[in-house]
Amino acid sequence: MNVAEKLIKEGKLSREEYKELLACAERPDIRQLLAEEATALRQKYYGNKIYTRGLIEFTNYCKNNCYYCGIRRDNRNVKRYRLTKEEILSCCENGYELGYRTFVLQGGEDPYYSDEKMAEIIREIRKGYPDCAITLSIGEKSYESYKLLREAGANRYLLRHETANEQHYGMLHPASMSLTVRKQCLYDLKSLGYQVGAGFMVGSPGQKLEHLAEDLEFLEELQPHMVGIGPFIPHHDTQFAAEPAGSVDMTIFLLSVIRILLPKVLLPATTALGTVDPRGREKGILAGANVVMPNLSPVLHRKQYELYDNKICTGEESAECRQCLARRVESVGCCLVSERGDAK
Ligand code: 5AD
Ligand code: FES
Repeated sequence: MNVAEKLIKEGKLSREEYKELLACAERPDIRQLLAEEATALRQKYYGNKIYTRGLIEFTNYCKNNCYYCGIRRDNRNVKRYRLTKEEILSCCENGYELGYRTFVLQGGEDPYYSDEKMAEIIREIRKGYPDCAITLSIGEKSYESYKLLREAGANRYLLRHETANEQHYGMLHPASMSLTVRKQCLYDLKSLGYQVGAGFMVGSPGQKLEHLAEDLEFLEELQPHMVGIGPFIPHHDTQFAAEPAGSVDMTIFLLSVIRILLPKVLLPATTALGTVDPRGREKGILAGANVVMPNLSPVLHRKQYELYDNKICTGEESAECRQCLARRVESVGCCLVSERGDAK
């Protein structure tokens, strides 16, 4: 039995076996085998439904300096913006009309939005849209802060671990940040009853197959409800400007592996995947993904939330993206739905 067959049979592998499997990511027979199993599992738990999350990028201020990120604190070339509570609510209103039942509030780590301010925004969304899920993606906070935001009405939290290897984490982040803190945040969020999303970039500078194997092991240990992965894409104002982007093939291979490892996981075909390949998101769905996260932010600010170069959908109105995505999803035999899409 080869490692791919073993993964399908047992649902997990050892670190050494993951490495062996990932070394086969270019082999068409293995890719095909895993993609078939992954889509069968998605079909079993979620049918052909693809869930949508309306992404509201509400601030591009950030106190962190992650080496790969275009909106890192030290990038002086970014024109910074913040949305007011009213602007955020108007994104929700627009999104609700378009059929979104999950709002993702994403931003840099911006101290301007104190816990109290965030809680107030969350309470207002909760009051106006009691049938919607509220997802936060605003970085590392204390247990107490996460608790307050949960009590205000937030249901889900996205915080990618970025890499589960200490040393590699240190290559991507300044010394002020640590993998230990990142992991603790994820466990805190879980214990507070959030549906939690972890994840990592594929092909980030310095990444080895060994690191990806550790990422898979960590996902197995954490058992997140959601996993966000996308290719690393260089941003021209960072020290990684000249690094190559991550591979589409490796990303979709990993999507299949993650679907098999965590069969009920909510797995987005990410914007980054759609950026490196015009049919990246469709390929992601064919590999086992079941979520898409189009943008609901005001078009006026889209370009300013540039984590990486050439990000797609920065000029399109939310309604256009919704229609475009519906067509793309249908082109691969699936159906874009308006449900909240909680984890099973
Ligand atoms: N390329 C790809 N993904 C990136 N992210 C940040 N910068 C980049 C980049 N240059 C991802 C990180 C972060 C998420 C919001 O976006 O994984 O967690
Ligand atoms: Fe935004 Fe296609 S999804 S234009």
